[in-house]
Amino acid sequence: MNRTIFGAAEGAQEVSLFTLKNRNGMEITMSDLGAVLTRVIVPDQEGHPRDVVLGYESPEEYRKNTNTYFGSTVGRNGNRLEGAAVTLEGKVYHMTPNEGENNLHSGPDGYQIRMWEVKETAEDRNEVTFVLESPDGDQGFPGNLKLEVTYALTDENEIRITYKGVSDAETVFNPTNHSYFNLGGHDSGTILNHVLTLMADSYTPVRDSASIPTGEKADVTGTPMDFRQGKAIGLDIDADFQQLQYTGGYDHNFVINQNSVSDDTTTGLYRAAVVVCSESGITMEVDTDRPGVQLYAGNFLKEEPGKGGVKYGKRCGFCLETQYFPNAANEPAFASPIIKANEPCVTETVYRFKSQGLKQGGEGR
Ligand code: GLA
Repeated sequence: MNRTIFGAAEGAQEVSLFTLKNRNGMEITMSDLGAVLTRVIVPDQEGHPRDVVLGYESPEEYRKNTNTYFGSTVGRNGNRLEGAAVTLEGKVYHMTPNEGENNLHSGPDGYQIRMWEVKETAEDRNEVTFVLESPDGDQGFPGNLKLEVTYALTDENEIRITYKGVSDAETVFNPTNHSYFNLGGHDSGTILNHVLTLMADSYTPVRDSASIPTGEKADVTGTPMDFRQGKAIGLDIDADFQQLQYTGGYDHNFVINQNSVSDDTTTGLYRAAVVVCSESGITMEVDTDRPGVQLYAGNFLKEEPGKGGVKYGKRCGFCLETQYFPNAANEPAFASPIIKANEPCVTETVYRFKSQGLKQGGEGR
């Protein structure tokens, strides 16, 4: 692991970057500001390195990262809570509304703009663990929550993100990673030609443009939401389909088929998605133990200044945010993201990369 100084974000202590490399030419970089993933290098089919995640140039920009959520570790709760409230053990708790009357990604003081501690990592482990103590009442949620996020880079070309949470009172625990991927490179324009396969027979339709689910699971068959056979993200994104009009393009939670077994049989994760960029020859697989995945096609990006002076326009990156379904804490029909007091919860998501240019069993790190 290599630690470098990122800079000092306004009002914050020194911010670091942590880089991991594997044997095959992959590199990933994370920061202790927000436990954000800032950089993912994957060699393309010709062996040329491409950075396949969108990001910012400076810690100051990450300090203000409450809009795009580039690379963010989102918590305590990813996605939306209706009425910015949740009822736990008969008591109503209020969050800050930051999207109309609702709460998105836990509000204006998200975990992605906090300073995290870095845990000692054993020499032989190619990983970095960030620790955050989130006090009782933080963002409106009850319980002192201790959260650890570990990013590991394996020689199987996987980024394995493991979240461990334990709280001293019942609370919501639904973290996710909000990286925007562009498998042609973060500076290569839109992701509309990427071919996406989603292992999802259904999705959770939203009531209106506020994007709170109705509570139903709708069949994708015969709709623009059907990605089971693989299709370009751009093919139906502007179709005359009410769900897509509510959200201005894909911004929906898909219900991962519970029989969708990952090739990686060691962990019992589900395969949620596969994305292929034929131009670069880079493929990404997404495996998780969570029931849902939010496909967000970067519809709201508007010339966002990013790394290396690049301006990220509409749909220049896509997110596959593994999580409980949106508003699940308030929707009895959905699996619950509520954890009990003093019962640790562990959850894992894997982003695995494939490319002809990835050396197998290379020279070492
Ligand atoms: C999530 C939401 C989107 C959008 C992005 C951040 O993916 O579902 O509607 O708010 O975060 O811009």
